[in-house]
Amino acid sequence: MSSQPLLPQQSHPNPRTSTGTPRKLILTTILVPILLIAGIIFVGIKGDGVPKDDLGLARYYLKSSPVIDGHIDLPEFARAFYGNNISAFDLNKPSKGHVDIPRIREGSLGAFFWSIFVECREDNGKDFLHPTFQVRDTLEQIDVSNRLIEKYSDTFAFAGTADEVEVAIKQGKVASLYGLEGGHMLGNSLAVLRTYHQLGVRYMTLTHSCNNAFADSAGIFEPVEERWGGLSPLGRALIPEMNRVGILVDLSHVSDKTALQALSITRAPVMLSHSAARHFNNMSRNVPDEILAKIGRGKHQVDGVIMVNFFPVFASAKPDEVDVAYIADEVEYIVSKTGKHHVGVGSDYDGIESTPKGLEDVSKYPYLFAELIRRGWTQHELSLLAGGNFLRVMRGMEETSRRLRKDGWEPSGVIYDKRRDLDPVEWEL
Ligand SMILES: *[C@@H]1O[C@H](CO)[C@@H](O)[C@H](O)[C@H]1NC(C)=O
Ligand SMILES: *[C@@H]1O[C@H](CO)[C@@H](O)[C@H](O)[C@H]1NC(C)=O
Ligand SMILES: [Zn+2]
Repeated sequence: MSSQPLLPQQSHPNPRTSTGTPRKLILTTILVPILLIAGIIFVGIKGDGVPKDDLGLARYYLKSSPVIDGHIDLPEFARAFYGNNISAFDLNKPSKGHVDIPRIREGSLGAFFWSIFVECREDNGKDFLHPTFQVRDTLEQIDVSNRLIEKYSDTFAFAGTADEVEVAIKQGKVASLYGLEGGHMLGNSLAVLRTYHQLGVRYMTLTHSCNNAFADSAGIFEPVEERWGGLSPLGRALIPEMNRVGILVDLSHVSDKTALQALSITRAPVMLSHSAARHFNNMSRNVPDEILAKIGRGKHQVDGVIMVNFFPVFASAKPDEVDVAYIADEVEYIVSKTGKHHVGVGSDYDGIESTPKGLEDVSKYPYLFAELIRRGWTQHELSLLAGGNFLRVMRGMEETSRRLRKDGWEPSGVIYDKRRDLDPVEWEL
């Protein structure tokens, strides 16, 4: 509001001097209507331009703390629908998926993990040794992400650290992080993990929906038969190597045993990039209370963030009932188990076939925040949910990586014991 008075100060003590109009008349005919109009404007906008309605307020808060989404399948969308031909679609126009630039802006999406994903294969052999093109295909998904970020560089900026995420957001860009969705994409090799890190990968779900050489998966709708009883010996070497290299251990998609064992080994904070709560739907893919209890900053807990998945089929046994309020219930349920410092958003947009009512695409995040404002969440708490919690976890991971390297940890030389191709040849002299 202006510090200038609404009306010029009376310069003459006598109210009748200029026009002879009585003071009372000026008050009723001029001042009262002006004050009424000002009052009406004031009801809509609190003093400093802060909107008063829940949705307006949500949008206002998200301007300074935009959403950091833990899992968006835009690269998979490009592969599945366009064979990675990025000339065949235009992200500035309405997409047939859930993500395009106008809707990203409308929804205050400030950063997201581009999911680097190729299918895992059930027929990969008992020891996961059948040759596949999974490493090639993974590189293609990193490449298509690189090309999209470059093509739309007015919008996107690659980010490899929490600081870079914040800088990109401050510059009005959408910070773009890479997350690998499944250890099967490593070709059973820690050397490949290290190389993916150099290419920008900052989290890895230990599995997708099948077991791999490192760990057992949760399966999707039914548990899969376990192979290792959680982590394999190679998986037990993988976790510290991820800690050292600087890749977040992501426990979405893994079996309960895998998650519990990984939590007992990791030295760095963890994430669940896109998980629903099993409390609402007893599905092996969803995170159970037992694992929520291990996430925190208390004794015998690991710092972490559970980023809530929007897929109605995971959220509920009755997917049709899933709406904004239902997803808010899930957020609040996780908060009831972990506190408000361990929750985030991991929509799974472009990777799911249906969406909640009211959260149909990336333009709709403000509706979830408006719902939580109605439930009494403060601006600070909403900023934690939007991305603050994730950034703390990412910084914790970065700090651990620096410390382990400083402590002299060397790249792991562990090789999958079932591989024979690296056996040294016999020298004939
Ligand atoms: C990619 O898409 C564009 C536009 O549809 C098309 O002109 C071009 O031939 C495509 N490229 C390939 C290699 O298919
Ligand atoms: C959840 O499902 C599992 C089998 O997948 C079953 O063992 C367990 O009893 C179920 N829990 C509840 C609470 O229904
Ligand atoms: Zn997934």
